[in-house]
Amino acid sequence: MDAIRINGGVPLNGEIVIGGAKNAALPLMAASLLSDAPLTLVNMPELVDITTMGNLLRQHGVHISQEAFGAGRAAVEAGPTGRTTTLTADRLTSVTAPYDLVRRMRAGFFVLGPMLARMGEAKVSLPGGCAIGTRGVDLHLKALEEIGAKIEVKEGYVYASTRGRLKGAKVTFPMVTVGGTENLLMAATLAEGETIIENAAREPEIGNLADCLNAMGAKITGIGTGTLRVSGVPTLHGARVAVIPDRIETGTYAIAAAITRGRIVLKGTRYDLLESVFTALRQAGVSVEATENTITVAAPNGLSGVDAVTEPYPGFPTDMQAQWMALMATADGASMITETIFENRFMHVPELRRLGADVNVHGGSAIVRGRKDLTGAPVMATDLRASVSLVLAGLAAKGETLVNRVYHLDRGYERLEEKLGACGARIERISGA
Ligand code: UD1
Repeated sequence: MDAIRINGGVPLNGEIVIGGAKNAALPLMAASLLSDAPLTLVNMPELVDITTMGNLLRQHGVHISQEAFGAGRAAVEAGPTGRTTTLTADRLTSVTAPYDLVRRMRAGFFVLGPMLARMGEAKVSLPGGCAIGTRGVDLHLKALEEIGAKIEVKEGYVYASTRGRLKGAKVTFPMVTVGGTENLLMAATLAEGETIIENAAREPEIGNLADCLNAMGAKITGIGTGTLRVSGVPTLHGARVAVIPDRIETGTYAIAAAITRGRIVLKGTRYDLLESVFTALRQAGVSVEATENTITVAAPNGLSGVDAVTEPYPGFPTDMQAQWMALMATADGASMITETIFENRFMHVPELRRLGADVNVHGGSAIVRGRKDLTGAPVMATDLRASVSLVLAGLAAKGETLVNRVYHLDRGYERLEEKLGACGARIERISGA
């Protein structure tokens, strides 16, 4: 298994181009199941999760072609072009999403809504456990039932079917769910009549999906609000759609600048996608300057502790919680970080402590007391964002940090070592460590 070795303590200085958002690209890929015409996605990131979703869709019969833009540093310097991927679901050969693929990545469950709406049936493996919490799919299933799906769960699979088209209805989510909103939204596009989704998630990735579905001929209004209205149509057509920039990658590299007390110019991204994090960075004393095409993040030596509470968008994202904790571990004074989305998302704490961080967890909150110096150590990560928080802490720590199990990072960060290395980080991948 690969590992990443970092010799920390170097202020980063340079430019980083942000890629397309993983969490936008995955449901967009699933949306290709809704039509027999090609869906072309521009600015696709190159990530293991995207490959896994491609493999899942291929086994359903989707034809996928890619225009590569070349790899390596040249691509990073070339700007936010990403890859262009065309998915054509003209002949679906299987309605079954097998355990082996869905267990690797929860987003595999996104095929349920579109497959059911297009084919009238779907058999999708339950995603199973996950390191950051139980993460049920009960809300996905209840929502689909409310628009007429018959659902049965047996032997680890969800069997969904409908006689004729799904039937539009008013669906109110009892809590905000990103994936649940996306699954229902896709299914509702082909339902008969109007579906009103109340307490819909407002994450920018949902806006990207809704815009894509509209480009395919769907009729969705209320995009960006908590109430989505979908007027069902009998069929959808092809479209060409750009994936929005990855706001979590953006925030992660903003923190790389701050935690090393360096300066990084972020390109190919948007300030408005991540205002909550930029506001918190400013409160901590970090300078954040946004122009139309760039965001420059620069940090002085002393930073102050700032509390953060994770919330659905537009609140502070749970996917930035671990990275924020790493930064706060180096700030002056104490800060309290409260996790409200997932019940078990502090597994990075014992590993950050190995690097010298002073963190205590009390229920859903963690108290972080900033320290002048972190020190390098071997660490192990349990999930994607936890892994990257260890990389960030390692960049700030004096001495050598070895981050094991980097396959988590490859699920969500494209060419991480290369992007950080171009800003002066002493970071390398060790194969098979
Ligand atoms: C998505 C993101 C993930 C992010 C999360 C919250 C993707 C591929 N992943 O995950 O990176 O951390 O949003 O912003 O976009 N829940 C239930 N039952 C359900 C569905 C959800 O109890 O049927 C709970 C979950 O356990 C969790 C909360 O609702 O506690 C929010 O989860 P949700 O918004 O659905 O997250 P995901 O879509 O899985």
